Amino acid sequence: MRFDIITIHPELLSGPFSHSILKRAQDKGLVEVHFHDLRDYTLDKHNRVDDYQFGGGAGMVMTIEPIDRCISALKAERDYDEVIYMTPDGEQFDQPMANRLSTKGNMIILCGHYKGIDQRVRDHFITKEISIGDYVLTGGELAAAVVCDAVIRLIPGVISDETSALFDSHQDGMLAPPVYTRPAEYKGWKIPDVLLSGNERLIEDWRHEQALKRTQERRPDYLSDDGMK
Ligand code: ADE
Repeated sequence: MRFDIITIHPELLSGPFSHSILKRAQDKGLVEVHFHDLRDYTLDKHNRVDDYQFGGGAGMVMTIEPIDRCISALKAERDYDEVIYMTPDGEQFDQPMANRLSTKGNMIILCGHYKGIDQRVRDHFITKEISIGDYVLTGGELAAAVVCDAVIRLIPGVISDETSALFDSHQDGMLAPPVYTRPAEYKGWKIPDVLLSGNERLIEDWRHEQALKRTQERRPDYLSDDGMK
């Protein structure tokens, strides 16, 4: 898998990708992440990548030319499965979308800024528009990092215990059950006895029950009308 992220703030993105699991995934060659500074592609003598909007109105709009030049340069090198635009009016990102994206090869992600991008970019270059939630960030960079993180951890070999991603909250329309670690008692607060029973069957049943309870309480929309899976 390869992500090419187009941004006017590459420094905002370098942090999330240079630590921990995302760094290791790149070191192992499981994913490549490249940042492209949009200002390197503008022909404007003042290095501008935005302009006033036609028809008037507050807020600058990102211009089409540097974006076209950057995307075209990337596409001349390789084929892409998706050209994604991060925007608060895009399709809501969720675990099923992360799962689908984790099966793709090469993806371009364009991070928006200001009042947005010239609509002709969306009409002619973008294949998918993603929002990470109903709120407006200062730019698409943090949203792009969220999407890449959720997708990269699903690539086989990225998480050491390969099965663990299967049991994540949201993965099969259920939230994950509570987990505990040592000590078994802390300040008089004990862990559930069943977890010390050594009986795998009982532990599995307890986990399922707890996951169902949590889902009923917090995300009843995941369950059928009778409140069951
Ligand atoms: N850019 C600004 N806000 C955003 C959001 N909520 N999701 C994706 N990109 C964004």
